[in-house]
Amino acid sequence: MEFKTNWFMVPLIFFALRIASVFLVQTFYEADEYWQSLEVAHKFTFGYGYLTWEWEKGIRSYVYPIFFTILYKILAIIKLDIPTLLVLLPRVLQASLSAYSDICFYEWTGRRKWAIFCLATSWFSFYMGSRTLINSFETAISTIALSLFPWPGMVKEEKLNFLWLVGFICIVRPTSAIMWLPLCLYHLLITKHSWSFLILTKYLPIGILLLIASTLIDSLAHGSFIITFYEFFKFNIIKNVAISYGTLPWYWYMSFGLPAILGVHLMPFIIASLMVLKNRKVHQNELILLGTVVFSIGVFSYLPHKEFRFLMPLLPIMLFITSRYLAVWSRKVKTLHILAVALILFIGNIVPAYYLGMIHQRGTLDIMPHLREIAQKNPENTSFLFLMPCHSTPMYSHLHVNVTTRFLTCNPNFENVKVKEDEVTMFYKSPNKWLRKHYPPNGTLPSHIITFNSLVPSITDILSRYKTVVDIFHTDVPLSSKFGTRILVHELQF
Ligand SMILES: *[C@@H]1O[C@H](CO)[C@@H](O)[C@H](O)[C@H]1NC(C)=O
Ligand SMILES: *[C@@H]1O[C@H](CO)[C@@H](O)[C@H](O)[C@H]1NC(C)=O
Repeated sequence: MEFKTNWFMVPLIFFALRIASVFLVQTFYEADEYWQSLEVAHKFTFGYGYLTWEWEKGIRSYVYPIFFTILYKILAIIKLDIPTLLVLLPRVLQASLSAYSDICFYEWTGRRKWAIFCLATSWFSFYMGSRTLINSFETAISTIALSLFPWPGMVKEEKLNFLWLVGFICIVRPTSAIMWLPLCLYHLLITKHSWSFLILTKYLPIGILLLIASTLIDSLAHGSFIITFYEFFKFNIIKNVAISYGTLPWYWYMSFGLPAILGVHLMPFIIASLMVLKNRKVHQNELILLGTVVFSIGVFSYLPHKEFRFLMPLLPIMLFITSRYLAVWSRKVKTLHILAVALILFIGNIVPAYYLGMIHQRGTLDIMPHLREIAQKNPENTSFLFLMPCHSTPMYSHLHVNVTTRFLTCNPNFENVKVKEDEVTMFYKSPNKWLRKHYPPNGTLPSHIITFNSLVPSITDILSRYKTVVDIFHTDVPLSSKFGTRILVHELQF
């Protein structure tokens, strides 16, 4: 079984796959996908919108949203700023970057067909690759940097371009430094230059230059001098704000996070890792990569706030180890065995890709065109009240109408992060009390209230004045009792 890969085949496969995922991933994963990128770009370009506290405090780099701001500006200038394009084109942009990084991954693995197969079938790559999340961006840049890294035995001459990308991504996304620390130490160990020479003439100047450039961009965008990099550390390490977003036990990544994102690729990855450990003398690069994965997961496990997406930049490394192992393995076995394994890997990934990409949590995105239609009819007299956990839906990037919106906020308590007294917490403690305080009987009511179906029985008082005008599917398995299986829009009756 031999299939030839022409020079255009691999780019074609990956571009087709990533662009397809723009249309085949229709679900909501993470608020940051909108609130830390598109909403920021929308506010910048069109003058109305909402910036979360991260932007007020300046702990996020503006570099990523700037790409979408430029895109939105161009659309505004050529008068094509229609919602469909505002929603889809940023994803096409990210998908193209992901596809380019996929091609770099293929080159890096030594052009193995298993590399194409492993990456193309990875459900998590498919699910994430076209999302406008900083983690998808970080993963793409990291993968390109990995493909440029001077791996001993794999490249002829030692080029140092990768350092620019490493410096760039560590400034845009400071937690990237965790993964790149062991790799950069390895570089200093294997380089044919002296390490002190490299640090003085490459590492430091590149780092300083990029820091100055990003500080300039951030300060211009923020409106005053700011080093987002430093603010990020201040809030996350010193003030420990991250823990107000939930904590999970230390073993969560190993027991749950890693198996979930690798899916059925976990089995070949474990076998491949054992092989690397057994033959560590010949697989020095793989050993370092494995060490990087272990080190990063170790550090991540120590941090209290954990999410699946934080593991995403490690995925290409794990698939690299897996695909190189499978390439060696498949030379020794019958074609039938190869086909069987490929089939298992394929089906095992397509199931989560389909369910999570098409069904689970699609309502919070599907509701937006309905709201847009309502808002466009009568922008002055429309006001939306979202009675759901904070940032459950995107907002102005998907509405693209300057209407009044109100949602429950969940800003951390900066004085004491352990005390949870944000609006979401207070609301769900006693919904009617919160509503009476903020919407007294003699005051004006919002024209539309958006809720999950699970909330309806607790707020029948206020809803007696409303009529349900939209009722759509959200998910079969709500995350918690604050979420529901359906989403409803209630319209005020006069
Ligand atoms: C959006 O609406 C608000 C409130 O009606 C108004 O103050 C603001 O100027 C509007 N912004 C734009 C850019 O139209
Ligand atoms: C509604 O009533 C409350 C107290 O009964 C009062 O404080 C508030 O100012 C009133 N609001 C309006 C809009 O009349």
